[in-house]
Amino acid sequence: MAEDFTRIAVMVSGGGTNLQALIDAEKSGIIKSGKIVLVASDNPDAYALKRAAANDIETYIMKGEDYLLKKLEADDIELVVLAGFMKILSADFVSHFPNRMINIHPSLIPSFCGKGCYGLHVHEKALAYGVKVTGATVHYVNEVPDGGRIIAQKAVEIRDDDTPETLQRRVMEQAEWILLPRAAEKVSSILLNEKNK
Ligand code: GAR
Repeated sequence: MAEDFTRIAVMVSGGGTNLQALIDAEKSGIIKSGKIVLVASDNPDAYALKRAAANDIETYIMKGEDYLLKKLEADDIELVVLAGFMKILSADFVSHFPNRMINIHPSLIPSFCGKGCYGLHVHEKALAYGVKVTGATVHYVNEVPDGGRIIAQKAVEIRDDDTPETLQRRVMEQAEWILLPRAAEKVSSILLNEKNK
């Protein structure tokens, strides 16, 4: 019989605070339709890998898209969550996960997104432009960087004395760490219902 949860792989590149939010959400029951069974990183030094290991989640270092795809297929991964993953995946790779890959981006898409717009750069650009409100977006991943259908967004106010670092932290606390687990649950639940039909 098929498992009664959606098998999730989380892909990371750095600190992994969004991964931590997902792990905590699984423990607290906010994520109840999915289970994180793999954490994959393109960066062998990512602190996120330590968070995974501390929670007994298998880790995998990405050597190339072909190997990663084989690993995800071998592990029967049903949902891929990009949580602070900084590499742009090829259209071919993404096409293997239609409506099965989601990403968190630290701005209100379509502002401050796309190629070259990731991590702290996003907040630098928002401050340089002078917008007064920013936020975070969770969206499905398609072949256009940050271009897939939006699942959820949350706005965060910008303060006059914000630096990229203070803004990044507030967007994480007030938006990302809340939004990503909820979206992961929503999509896990959709996929679980499909599987049980
Ligand atoms: C987060 O702000 C995430 O939204 C962003 O990088 C940070 C990673 O932090 N992702 C992107 O910019 C992707 N385009 P984390 O490793 O602590 O989760």
